[in-house]
Amino acid sequence: MHLNEPDKMSTRDVELFQKRAAAAETEIRKLKEALKSLYDDVKVHGNNETMIRLQNENAKLKHRLAILKRAVECEKSIASENVIQDQNPTLSIQELLHSLFREAIDAAYPELTDLPVIIVSNDKTPQFGDYQCNSAMLISNLIKAKGTKTSPRDVANKIVSKVKSNSLIERVEVAGVGFVNIFLKRDFAASILTTMLKRRQVLPPCVPKQRVLVDFSSPNIAKEMHVGHLRSTIIGDSISRVLEYLGHDVLRINHIGDWGTQFGMLVAHLQDRFPDYLIVSPPISSLQEFYKESKKRFDEDPLFKKRAYECVVKLQSFDADVLKAWQMICSVSRKVNQQLYDRLEIKITEIGESFYQSRMVDIVEELESRGFLEEDDGRKVMWGTKPGVDIPLTMVKSDGGFTYDTSDMAAIKYRLEEQKADWVIYVVDAGQATHFDTLKKCAKRAGIITSKHRIDHVEFGVVLGEDKKKFKTRSGETIQLSKLLDEGLRRALEKLKEKERDKFLTNDELLAAQESIAYGCIKYSDLSHNRIKNYVFSFDRMLDDKGNTAVYLLYALTRIRSIARAANVSQEQLRAAAETTAISLEHEKEFKLAKVLLKFSDVLLEITKDLCLHHLCEYCYEISTTFTEFYDSCYCVEKNQVGEVVKINMGRLMLAEATAMIMEQAFNLLGLKPVERM
Ligand code: ARG
Repeated sequence: MHLNEPDKMSTRDVELFQKRAAAAETEIRKLKEALKSLYDDVKVHGNNETMIRLQNENAKLKHRLAILKRAVECEKSIASENVIQDQNPTLSIQELLHSLFREAIDAAYPELTDLPVIIVSNDKTPQFGDYQCNSAMLISNLIKAKGTKTSPRDVANKIVSKVKSNSLIERVEVAGVGFVNIFLKRDFAASILTTMLKRRQVLPPCVPKQRVLVDFSSPNIAKEMHVGHLRSTIIGDSISRVLEYLGHDVLRINHIGDWGTQFGMLVAHLQDRFPDYLIVSPPISSLQEFYKESKKRFDEDPLFKKRAYECVVKLQSFDADVLKAWQMICSVSRKVNQQLYDRLEIKITEIGESFYQSRMVDIVEELESRGFLEEDDGRKVMWGTKPGVDIPLTMVKSDGGFTYDTSDMAAIKYRLEEQKADWVIYVVDAGQATHFDTLKKCAKRAGIITSKHRIDHVEFGVVLGEDKKKFKTRSGETIQLSKLLDEGLRRALEKLKEKERDKFLTNDELLAAQESIAYGCIKYSDLSHNRIKNYVFSFDRMLDDKGNTAVYLLYALTRIRSIARAANVSQEQLRAAAETTAISLEHEKEFKLAKVLLKFSDVLLEITKDLCLHHLCEYCYEISTTFTEFYDSCYCVEKNQVGEVVKINMGRLMLAEATAMIMEQAFNLLGLKPVERM
């Protein structure tokens, strides 16, 4: 079946989409009314059976409602995009196809509701289409279960006959047992990429805006940040970047551990070591050392231990001198951390555990009065499910003090109710999975988390050394992060010198390249691994210029940009050319590259589902290998024997520039900083 429509949607199409959006809105209104009458029903005939039936129906309706709402948003955006196409060129191909096939399937089987729409992209076997709709098998089973004879191929044919003509699909064909192979239109790809060049900007797909709080980095004040916190910092920053790019309202929060009993010994030790600390700011250079000294005294000297406990009590009752000492200790640590954030260009706002002091009192009081707390060996605990089933949160210790759990309960309430977050993301190592699981359950029990909230624990594995053991220095100490970054810089420079780049680059360029490579490779090697797994930290591997590494990709981008530069065509000229010249997509490799570029929005949408950034890294790698294929078979610039440029293929240089723009945008989301020359 060929769908030979003009490449832009006609006014009729736009009207159609608008009508469908309006129809869906009417359906939503009706569903809301139905829901309300269901609730009324429950009130009147509140027996158990009807209750369960109604609850089931209610859940189904809610689900349908959510799908419809999403559909309306999508329809509206499609409609508006086509009226003013320049405003939002980066569409989600998956969503567009989903919407087209949703309509086709509904039209093919109007008597059935909620039939599954399954769209997958197909990179491995291009002869079977760019995408596939794999709904026919499931639908045929559903129909057979109702007693009607049919086959998946019949279903597939029926669906195909109902696909409306549109600007996206070149043709569809039924294959095998009942797959629907979908081939995209060149003109569609061309129009999206051309618009992108004209806009000089890669716009994100449109999603409903939410307020998202990302809790990341979050080191503990008393001790120095370790590699686990570095992972949280890198992953959390990149998640924030993606969500910001999608237009969400993102709160980047550093939930530092700046409260708790360990401060007692630190304060007591500070008072001894620097008796005039109230007048002269104490010159603590390494908090790590300071912590160790005080811990040693705490363990060995009972008198000191007693004083440490007294300091905790004083701190919690806000004794002015002790508070000052505590602040001094925090500020030493804050300075060290800030240096790291500055080097890695990471923005984050501190709202540490101490912020919740009064709120911890409040939440304990509230939970207690509502009967959620139970006595357990002198402690007050809250169970996530039934007592004895899991590990409870300790809300009050036997000595009356609060814990990490208490601060997290207070924090989640504050975040959802006062900061009005719709979505909270905790970027914390997998070792704390039980803690966050129970926290979620308790907050749900207390009605703090409701059905409109989304809560994710973005967990990650530990960092291993090349010996596959926990990443430590040779003498078994935790590795200082500033030293690690220094080592990265040293190795990056070594690498650049090995390639004799120091002979071609100016000093400034060399420094920029060195930093870009060093920090880029540390970030990228973390992000490119599936975060759930442990990962081996190896400078040798991350600085390799072959394979899926930051170095390879950063080079790839500079190389792409250098093609036009070598032909004396500026970026600006290329983008301006988009007004008059057609982007070249005739060659099979050109079109292949364009189709990879078109997937950018879908990769981002996938990341919003599982919050795994390796999808974006794999995508960058795919762009760069597909670009190489294109470049190997398509001349962009032709030169004569003496190396003079004799022919410039503008359409191809435009495709190269579109590739560079998307790569650059993706790098930005991964926290990589491309340089012009390296
Ligand atoms: N400070 C904690 C640690 O180092 C991480 C805090 C994570 N955030 C939270 N809301 N619990 O283990």
